[in-house]
Amino acid sequence: MDTTPADARVIVVGAINVDFVIATPRLPGPGETVVGPRVDRHGGGKGANAAVAAARTGTTVELIGAAGSDDTGDGASADLRDEGVDVGAVMRTDSPTGVALIVVDQAGENQIAVGAGANSELTAAQVRASLTDLRPGDCVLVSTEIAGAAVVAAVETAAAAGAQCVLNPAPPIPEIADAIRYGPILTPNAGECLELASMVGQHSDTVEEAAAALSEATGAAVVVTLGAGGVLVGIPGQDFETIPARTATVRDTTGAGDTFNGVFAARLAAGDTTNAAATVANVAAALSVSYVGARTGMPTWDQISAASR
Ligand code: ATP
Ligand code: RIB
Repeated sequence: MDTTPADARVIVVGAINVDFVIATPRLPGPGETVVGPRVDRHGGGKGANAAVAAARTGTTVELIGAAGSDDTGDGASADLRDEGVDVGAVMRTDSPTGVALIVVDQAGENQIAVGAGANSELTAAQVRASLTDLRPGDCVLVSTEIAGAAVVAAVETAAAAGAQCVLNPAPPIPEIADAIRYGPILTPNAGECLELASMVGQHSDTVEEAAAALSEATGAAVVVTLGAGGVLVGIPGQDFETIPARTATVRDTTGAGDTFNGVFAARLAAGDTTNAAATVANVAAALSVSYVGARTGMPTWDQISAASR
C-alpha cells in the first residue's frame, strides 16, 4: 500500500466532546434505568475522533471546531495535540465543552445522547476564516454535530477552492439539503442514507436506491457504511460495489464511523481513488471496534498495512 505523501492534508470541521461511557448488560428502553458497574471517560466528538483517525495514518490534520474555555476544553485540546492534530483553529467559547453520554451493551451496540455545548457556537464566518489556505489536493471532512450554518460554509468553501470534500451526515440535520448542492462525497450509515434520500425528496425502499438518489443529487460518490456489512460504494456512472467488512471481535462500535471517515479522508488526500480509500478505511474501522472508547482502537498506518496484507 502507498504510504502518505508529505503534503497530504485533511482539514476536519466538526464536534469535540468528552464521552462518558457506561457498559451495561443491555441498552435501556424509554423510561428504564439500567445499571453498569462503572463510568469511563474518553475523548469524543465526531470531528475530533475523525481527526485522530486521520492523524494516526501519518497525515497532516487540522481541526476546526469549538470547545469551552474550561478544564474539559483544555484537556480535549491537549489530547488532540498529543495525537498530532493541529488545534490552532479550535475556538474557545463561554459555553461548556460538548458532552456525550454513551451506553454500550454486551454486543458492542450503543446509544448516545449529546449535549452540544460549545459545538453549536461554531459560526459560518469562523469556518470560512479558517479555510482560507485550501489547496486542491486537500480533503475537507465535515460532520454535523455542529451548527448547520458552519456545515454549509465548510462544504461551500471547500467546493469554491476546488478541494476534495467529504460530508459525513451524522446526524442528518436539515442544512444538509443545502450543503448537498456543492457536490460533497456523502458518507452516511444505512439509516442516515434512507433519511437523507427522503430529505431530498426521494423516498427509497432500499439503501442502494437511496444512495443512487443521493449520488444523483450531488453528482458525486456516495459511500454508505453498513456496520458488520462493510461498505457500499456508489460512484456516478459505475456499478455500485459492496466491500465486505473484515471479521472483527466487537466490544464497542462507538467511533467506527469516525474511524472510517478519518481514514477515508486521509487516503483521498493521499491521492487514492474513492474505491481504494474506502477499502483501506473499511479495514481501519473494523480494527477499531474491538476496543472500548471511540479512539482507543483507531489503528496506526502500520497496523492498517499489516491487516491489509
Ligand atoms: P458510529 O456512529 O457507531 O461511529 P456508524 O453507524 O457511523 O458508526 P457503521 O456503519 O456502524 O458506522 O460502521 C462504520 C464502519 O465500521 C463499517 O462500514 C465497517 O467498516 C466498520 N464496522 C462496524 N461494525 C463492524 C463489525 N461488526 N465488524 C467489522 N467492521 C465493522
Ligand atoms: O461517533 C461517536 C461519537 O459520537 C462519540 O465520540 C460521541 O462524542 C458522539 O459525538
